Amino acid sequence: MTINKKFIDQFVGVTTKAALASSYLVGKKDKMAADKAAVDSMRSELNKIQMNGQVVIGEGVLDEAPLLYTGELLGTKNGPNFDIAVDPVEGTNFVANNLPGGITVLAIAEKGNLFNAPETYMSKIATGKIDDGLIDLDFSLEKNIKNLSEFNNKSISSLTVCIMDRPRHKKIIDDLKKLKVNIKLITDGDVLGAIYVSDPKYEIDMFLGIGGGPEGVLAAAALDAYDCHFQGRFIFDNEKDIKEANLMGITDLNKKYDLNEIVKGDSIFCATGITTSEVLNGIMFDKDKYISETLVTHKSSNYKKIVKKISSLNE
Ligand code: FBP
Repeated sequence: MTINKKFIDQFVGVTTKAALASSYLVGKKDKMAADKAAVDSMRSELNKIQMNGQVVIGEGVLDEAPLLYTGELLGTKNGPNFDIAVDPVEGTNFVANNLPGGITVLAIAEKGNLFNAPETYMSKIATGKIDDGLIDLDFSLEKNIKNLSEFNNKSISSLTVCIMDRPRHKKIIDDLKKLKVNIKLITDGDVLGAIYVSDPKYEIDMFLGIGGGPEGVLAAAALDAYDCHFQGRFIFDNEKDIKEANLMGITDLNKKYDLNEIVKGDSIFCATGITTSEVLNGIMFDKDKYISETLVTHKSSNYKKIVKKISSLNE
């Protein structure tokens, strides 16, 4: 089964409106308000779509997040059954502080095909399309770098690795320096960080490091349409997370997930820029109109594009 192409425009509409809603809060130093505006818009727009949708990755569990909580049913309930993953504002700091890289993100797959990720950290590795078995979370950093350098026919010193600037990555960053690999440090937003590997124009050969598990699933959904390589391993390092994992039916806490175990079958991914980044322009206003850019992929039709939309503010 595939997801009907007619849904592409509808989901682009959802992330576009959420980005617009959040854009009014750009630079207002209020992460929560920026997130809430996008959540409210996304939820009301998703509820207009003819589908039986269920949130598998949302804002948290019901008692933490009254809206877009994991398990929430969305849509008009008279259409196909979809799993929905949302990150209404990915990069809340960016939006609150008017910095590049704030996006609103949505991924859809047929029911049962998107991994229901726990709210823990995930160790991630992503590259462009490579041969099976070439890059692996279980290999040493040096082996992965050497393998990629041979495969891409590029010297190690001309490879660039994107990684979040976090104390937990000190050893990896030190080792990358020793190997003379170029490093692109990002302060937040590891969905975009991973998306950089999808196109050589971003000049990122590998994305690496520990970030949010839900963001890992969203990144995998984006990279799937580009045939990229992605692996993730959840990190369960406290009793609460271990208990939650068990409740979710995760028995092997050390399991390494390949992309095709995280996202199965057909999918649609949409990410709209709130503030401008290397990938997407943020929301811009022009009199009674606004201009938005959305990265869209639809796996089965091999559709992958940055869609620029000019919409009326009065719609
Ligand atoms: P928010 O938009 O929810 O603030 O998340 C931003 C983010 O940078 C994610 O992209 C990333 O996965 C996660 O936070 C990393 O978490 P931490 O800041 O704890 O390292």
